[in-house]
Amino acid sequence: MPTTQPPVITLMAALLAASLFGCSATSLPKGDAARGEARFADTTLGTSGKSCNTCHTEMGRGAMSLVGKTPYDHTIRDCIQGPLQGDPGQEQAIADLLAYIRSLR
Ligand code: HEC
Repeated sequence: MPTTQPPVITLMAALLAASLFGCSATSLPKGDAARGEARFADTTLGTSGKSCNTCHTEMGRGAMSLVGKTPYDHTIRDCIQGPLQGDPGQEQAIADLLAYIRSLR
């Protein structure tokens, strides 16, 4: 029955689209470590007047060192939303910060 084919295809396309959308929701743009370094000290990422550097001092090398850590986007989102009181959906900033923290040795 050819008339039953289109709904099946539509369903499969919808499922495929849903799974692709699910992936794209967690995929970030390409990060830039140099931009991330600047953002690390940028107090305008949030509204509290703090930057990442306020706590992870000396560009990630202070008491709360990020050197050698494997950073996750959700951790950075938490730090932006919490202490910085900023928008945790700043995808490009998060990608840049990830690239920067990964570059720390
Ligand atoms: C008010 C202080 C504060 C600020 C500001 C802050 N953080 Fe954090 N951050 C913490 C604390 C507390 C933890 C959890 C303890 C730890 O892991 O050292 C943490 C953990 C992290 C971790 C996980 C470290 C690990 O152990 O794996 C990363 C990555 C991170 N922060 C990045 C950032 C970035 C990027 C910013 C700026 C957008 C930022 N933080 C701003 C306090 C802060």
